[in-house]
Amino acid sequence: MFYKFSFFLIFFLCTCVQPMAHAQTRVPSQKSAPAGNSKVEALLKKMTLQEKIGQLTLYTTDWESTGPTIRDGYKNDIRSGACGALFNSHTVPFTRELQRIAIEETRLKIPLLFGYDVIHGYKTIFPIPLGEAASWDLTAIEKSARVAAKEASSAGLHWTFAPMVDVARDPRWGRVMEGAGEDTYLGCRIAEARVRGIQGKGIGNTDAVLACVKHYAAYGAAIGGRDYNTVDMSERFLREYYLPPYKAAIDAGARTVMASFNDYDGVPATGNKFLLDQILRKEWKFKGFVVSDYTGIAEMVNHGVVANDKEAGELALQAGVDMDMQSAIYQRFTAQSLREGKISLQQIDDAVRRILSLKFELGLFDDPYKFSDQARYDATILSAENRAAARDVAKRSIVLLQNKGNVLPLSKNTKIALIGPLAENKSELIGNWCGAGSGSDCVSVREGLQLAGYNQVAFAKACEIADHDESGFKAALEVAQHADVLVVVLGERADMSGEAASRSNIKLPGVQENLLKALKSSGKPIVVILMNGRPLDLSEIVNDADAILEAWWLGTETGNALADVISGAYNPSGKLPMSFPKSVGQIPVYYNYKSTGRPYDPNSKWTSKYIDEQNNPLFPFGFGLSYTTFEYGEIQCDNPVFKKGTPVQLRVNVRNTGKYDGEEVVQLYIRDVTASVTRPVRELKAFKKIKIPQGGNETISFSLTDADFSFYKKNMQFGSEAGKFEIYIGGSALASRKLSIEMKP
Ligand code: GLC
Repeated sequence: MFYKFSFFLIFFLCTCVQPMAHAQTRVPSQKSAPAGNSKVEALLKKMTLQEKIGQLTLYTTDWESTGPTIRDGYKNDIRSGACGALFNSHTVPFTRELQRIAIEETRLKIPLLFGYDVIHGYKTIFPIPLGEAASWDLTAIEKSARVAAKEASSAGLHWTFAPMVDVARDPRWGRVMEGAGEDTYLGCRIAEARVRGIQGKGIGNTDAVLACVKHYAAYGAAIGGRDYNTVDMSERFLREYYLPPYKAAIDAGARTVMASFNDYDGVPATGNKFLLDQILRKEWKFKGFVVSDYTGIAEMVNHGVVANDKEAGELALQAGVDMDMQSAIYQRFTAQSLREGKISLQQIDDAVRRILSLKFELGLFDDPYKFSDQARYDATILSAENRAAARDVAKRSIVLLQNKGNVLPLSKNTKIALIGPLAENKSELIGNWCGAGSGSDCVSVREGLQLAGYNQVAFAKACEIADHDESGFKAALEVAQHADVLVVVLGERADMSGEAASRSNIKLPGVQENLLKALKSSGKPIVVILMNGRPLDLSEIVNDADAILEAWWLGTETGNALADVISGAYNPSGKLPMSFPKSVGQIPVYYNYKSTGRPYDPNSKWTSKYIDEQNNPLFPFGFGLSYTTFEYGEIQCDNPVFKKGTPVQLRVNVRNTGKYDGEEVVQLYIRDVTASVTRPVRELKAFKKIKIPQGGNETISFSLTDADFSFYKKNMQFGSEAGKFEIYIGGSALASRKLSIEMKP
């Protein structure tokens, strides 16, 4: 460790000594600064410039690196007031030690802020966010975030870099696993639920942490699905499809925002005043603070919009980035930029105010150690209650994609051949961005089946996830011979999705498709369980499997949740939050496409299509089967001709016509038939997840307001236009029940 310290000492002297020259020069804050609370203002008056700049600086500790660089000597940064926040630092002892340094070894004793990527659980790991989105269960999703916040806050954390709300239509992008899929409306409702869960009864409560809505903005539209790539779209498209979930999260109370790596309209989001000031501050009235992404400020030099780090810092601060994650640019250059008049003291003070205000709101000045509570940690982490919640959310996230011959559910006396590289695996089950989770805490599929009472299970791994060795197929075929049903657990590795994990080929990796073909020769019914962080190309799988369960990465309670569904103890209710393409060549394929002037016609050459592939995906947005069946009645409407601005009341009766009690996600889509700009053929505008007992029926009501018919018109004003609309209601984006209505001026 000594070598690390000496390196730091050199690094510290080279990079910090210059601004230190100003450390003792107390620069009075600007009187004209926006009014903060009196405690913030009083503290601001006492701070030196260096201490102010320290509050704008966020470093990772050496516990984890979630980006390309890591910095030694962060403890000395705390001592010198050179940083006011740390991330990737958790557990009670570690946060207490770091906080002690800030409180006992600095001049003004300003408490540190501790952040971490608690994306789908801290220690009790829930399904990846894309999997949770498949539940369409806002109560379950909020519960998941609530448990994560309780666990994280008991480990000393004040702030999570979640929810990620980036709308994404390209499954090649590995980060689709972190979001809520392709749809704006579903994305907004889930963003709100996650913020409610994260911030709980309000900031200041010891089990509530700051949410950080990311990655602002439009990071999910990276061209080619290649992470960090350029984003280029019209302002209309940005405002219509990508911005609403960020706003929904902020309107739900999210206190912080993270700027994204990508550029928008030629300007990196980290230096984009249109995004960070015009929209975020002026239009949305956001009062919290903005943090860059990992070295996002420094990366503007690579973007080619600034010549050096110092200019990058000036561009970021002027645009509205308050806190510099890991670049150390604010730390190194802000004093010089201020001296040169490139930035103003008010800009610095405003940023410091926003950060200090949240530290006060958290209660850290009253008790800097309130979140680092070992007794609460011991009572909270991986509790039976938390595991039960994880199991409940996980089973609701599973999507039944196929069930030929009603192979599923399986009775407990079924002889099962459990096969595949993920059949007894634990380490992969927590997926990517898994916080402090551990695979050793997981229930594997094999364990889950045993715990559920399946006591005739023979196992064969058969192959690895991504290598080319087929020598294990023989043993798999042998166990298959003696089985009634084959349960084959296939998928990606957890690190094949998440950040810096884009794939150009979205088929199952390795020899897994070959394994399935080999097993098909056994003539036995095959149930495929998929574990993956993105939509995959299943065009071969659907032919070789009888049943397919999309299980994403389900987290700590994977095996129990899958056993609940396989046994029929829980009737699967998930619906896809993203379209599954027939092939990578279809990408981007999504449900809310536009008609074009030559709408798809399979019988006409001269229409918008491919000569070698169909237009429709293998499985559409909103799709998911059940062990039962549901029948939709005609759509009823009290006022099919309505005056602009009056709500439209709609009803539909849904009948459970099968043999099981079940839950259905009743989805309502609209189409604006004629408008001043082209509009999608369908747009999700409402949904309700309802339980209907076997043989029962329910009437579901929806009320559409003018906002539901509104869009960015030709003049870029947001509003509705009179004319004809089509309403579709059903169990997926292919909903067939249709009603035409008309809005009068
Ligand atoms: C990463 C990610 C971001 C994460 C941050 C801190 O680069 O882009 O989502 O919150 O760094 O780990």
